[in-house]
Amino acid sequence: MAESILDAYKHQHNTEAVIDASKKLKIGIIGTGWIADAHIKSYLKMPDVEIIAGADLIPGKADAFFEKHGIKNVRTYLSHTEMLENEPELDAVSVCTYNMTHAVCTIDSLNKGVNVLLEKPMCVTLDEAVEICRAEKKSGKVLSIGFQPRFDENMKMIKRLVESGTLGDIYYIQTGGGRRRGIPTPFGTTFIEKETGGIGAIGDIGCYSLDMVLNAIGYPKPLTVSGYKCDFFGKNPEYMPCPEYAEKFGVDDFAAGFVRLEGGIVLDFRIAWAMHVDTPGDTIIFGKKAALRIPSTDCWNGTVGGNMVLYHDVCGTQTETKLPILETKGNLFDMKVRSFLDAIKNGTPAPIPSSQIIYNQAIIDGICRSAELGHEIEIDIPEI
Ligand SMILES: NC(=O)c1ccc[n+]([C@@H]2O[C@H](COP(=O)([O-])OP(=O)(O)OC[C@H]3O[C@@H](n4cnc5c(N)ncnc54)[C@H](O)[C@@H]3O)[C@@H](O)[C@H]2O)c1
Repeated sequence: MAESILDAYKHQHNTEAVIDASKKLKIGIIGTGWIADAHIKSYLKMPDVEIIAGADLIPGKADAFFEKHGIKNVRTYLSHTEMLENEPELDAVSVCTYNMTHAVCTIDSLNKGVNVLLEKPMCVTLDEAVEICRAEKKSGKVLSIGFQPRFDENMKMIKRLVESGTLGDIYYIQTGGGRRRGIPTPFGTTFIEKETGGIGAIGDIGCYSLDMVLNAIGYPKPLTVSGYKCDFFGKNPEYMPCPEYAEKFGVDDFAAGFVRLEGGIVLDFRIAWAMHVDTPGDTIIFGKKAALRIPSTDCWNGTVGGNMVLYHDVCGTQTETKLPILETKGNLFDMKVRSFLDAIKNGTPAPIPSSQIIYNQAIIDGICRSAELGHEIEIDIPEI
């Protein structure tokens, strides 16, 4: 029985597509920090890409970045606006800036008719997400949001399990995860300061766990949320690599939310950069026919944290089926970049569309606002 269930979800192998390299897309990088490395490495593997420009607010940073990657003849700028003004031939940009400048860089690029691959989280507030979606609609350009776990075979399996009806109707989901100690400060304080990060764990890793389950169930609209957030670890010098980081800490290190979604599904969510326990719980998707347990992971940017388990009844017997961890052929970042380029070239919809991710952002925004108000709120998403 277990094998026949597993057979139904056999790993689908990726087939190598032939890339037409006769027309090269001209690419720019906005923000040349840590994640820009992953973008540039993927672009360099694409035969139909020419990197022509880059921008970073920190003098010399963009030059050093391109030099490190051995890329010559790239024009560099001290802001995204300067780059967009001076590079009319740009086809697309990767927005790799810290969260607080995601919206302005994306909107300005779209307004210049440039396609955008935007890093996660989409932005900081729902208002910003709405403005991004409006700029995208007006421009007619491709905007894809950088959730590379979408390309992981195990993540795809979660969606296939839901869509196949194996779980039956879904009525409740608990999701989240995080780390016992893992406030991200390896390259400075851009993740933890209000002025740059804007939001903390909830945006950094919370957006991934939300995307995993919302994508699986077809991204229903969020209706109401009761949220909580705190910063007990980030503000405590004992838990920070150096005491001055605690003074700079201006975001959440733990957040939770109870969210009602269209269709009657309830989402129970919690995420931590730091806590006194190893996990706030696995993800569990409760269906009327079966439930799926997805072991928590501490980083949330790749795959599942262990074998998923399907809980179901077989001929009246309560049964647990351990699902194998599937191998993903290829690099998730390469797939994220390739799917974006293909959408531009083929005139197809964005692989990870803003029409979905705006709901992810609405939940994050709702949790933050509800936490500040101290009561449940309704989520109101304006027409785009
Ligand atoms: N997809 C993933 O796996 C993943 C992993 C890590 C980070 N990220 C996301 O990537 C983003 C960046 O993270 P990071 O670690 O590279 O941050 P970082 O602070 O190392 O780099 C961001 C850079 O953007 C520059 N910048 C900001 N505003 C700018 C502007 N208007 N014009 C030009 N440059 C500007 C900053 O000077 C900085 O050098 C974050 O939003 C983060 O959530 C995604």
